Amino acid sequence: MARQQSRYVCQACGAEHLRWEGQCRTCGAWNTLVETLVREPDRKRNAPAGPGGRPGAGPVPQSLAGLRESEPVRAPTGISELDRVLGGGLVPGSVVLLGGEPGIGKSTLLLQAAAGLTAGGDVLYATGEESAGQIRLRAGRLGLLDGTTGERIRVVAENEVGRIASLAREGRPRVLVVDSIQTMTVDELEGPAGSVGQVRESALRLMELAKGDGIAVIVVGHVTKDGTLAGPKTLEHLVDTVLSLEGERTATLRLLRATKNRFGSTEEIGVFEMAERGLSEVADPARAFIAGANEHAPGSVVGATLEGTRPLLVEVQGLVAPGSYGSPRRTASGVDTNRLALLIAVLGRRAGVGLGSHDVYANLAGGLDLADPGLDLPLALALASSLRDKPVAADLIAIGEVGLLGELRPVPGLERRLREAARLGFVTAIVPRSRHGSAPEIDGMKIVAVSNLREALGDALRAATEPPGRGPRG
Ligand code: TYD
Ligand code: MG
Repeated sequence: MARQQSRYVCQACGAEHLRWEGQCRTCGAWNTLVETLVREPDRKRNAPAGPGGRPGAGPVPQSLAGLRESEPVRAPTGISELDRVLGGGLVPGSVVLLGGEPGIGKSTLLLQAAAGLTAGGDVLYATGEESAGQIRLRAGRLGLLDGTTGERIRVVAENEVGRIASLAREGRPRVLVVDSIQTMTVDELEGPAGSVGQVRESALRLMELAKGDGIAVIVVGHVTKDGTLAGPKTLEHLVDTVLSLEGERTATLRLLRATKNRFGSTEEIGVFEMAERGLSEVADPARAFIAGANEHAPGSVVGATLEGTRPLLVEVQGLVAPGSYGSPRRTASGVDTNRLALLIAVLGRRAGVGLGSHDVYANLAGGLDLADPGLDLPLALALASSLRDKPVAADLIAIGEVGLLGELRPVPGLERRLREAARLGFVTAIVPRSRHGSAPEIDGMKIVAVSNLREALGDALRAATEPPGRGPRG
């Protein structure tokens, strides 16, 4: 077969060039040329459509009602937190992209999943990152070499996608793992591994393999510091499911979420802990993100968030220190910096808590990163508690979005969050007063409904001065 030709196509105007250049000579845009294979037009598309089809007409439309329902059969990975995020298991012929920062545990998770998937067939693990020996070492450490598992996972250290695809077509595994897309190349392109052209073409080939041969493909993608999947954004559009593994490398908790899922909800999360023998499922994820050690320390308030259908309690920490000179520092980890700035302003103008000249630090325990506005109130309370050096009761939970006027706004799923908090032993909850005036009733929990930040502060910091009950964190 003649070697396919590649062209450099401008992503802005579509012009084709023979060589890479920094600037497109047609439209003048910079850094927009991407190496792309010239593909023969697909003749099959225009061929007769088979029985019932008119020649040259392609597929024939069918009435929606006449279509057969097809709920995909799913292969369980044996890791229930992963299955949950996938929507109930891996769908044959689907392509899953697993993103995450280097060192977060992607290869570990996939090797463990591969072991679980061998219950239903072989798994081909293609690695361009590590040697086969390294994979074997890790498998030994994870205890995956016993029984048939060690037999049914086949490892190949290879980074040319064409060869990986042929190996898969020959061996017919149930699942192909490709670690990672940034190390993959196709022979027909000249660019280095990791370049936009290589990443995209490699992904396209793996898609073809998945759809054409019904093999599920899981692809690892490294995420850059700013949180984008390295390589083109188009990768996310191509694949069926995008998962991301998050957490702090120095901490042990990991959060797995789906940011796109054609076969399930994008709301479910999975919680893991990285330990000696790989990632293990966290038994009680609802309380995994409460640090707990510094009970009654000022600046710590527990909030309740909802990730999909799963309530999570999370410890919000604030530290306020007198600023030295120049503009004060505002550092946030796990919460949005703009949100922190806004809360500082609202606290100052609407609640009499002046932080204007202070250095302010905010943090979510356990390396969580959340965008839930319902965490506004615990964060604001944590900052006030730190400024006044007065702890908030350890058995108190706070939920609510803070508006610009200092008003508290309701959050979705309040009752579900409160029930979880009550189950874990929290006895007081500060929540936004609802417009209809009805607060949910939870057994064993005192619900304090307030309409603004000032009231909330009064209640939270007063609650702490009452004789302390037995905290739920002990
Ligand atoms: P890895 O899966 O290689 O990360 P990625 O593929 O996302 O780059 O995991 C990297 C880290 O996980 C490594 O620093 C060591 C740690 N680790 C454990 O703590 N326990 C284990 O059992 C394994 C296999 C790894
Ligand atoms: Mg890896």
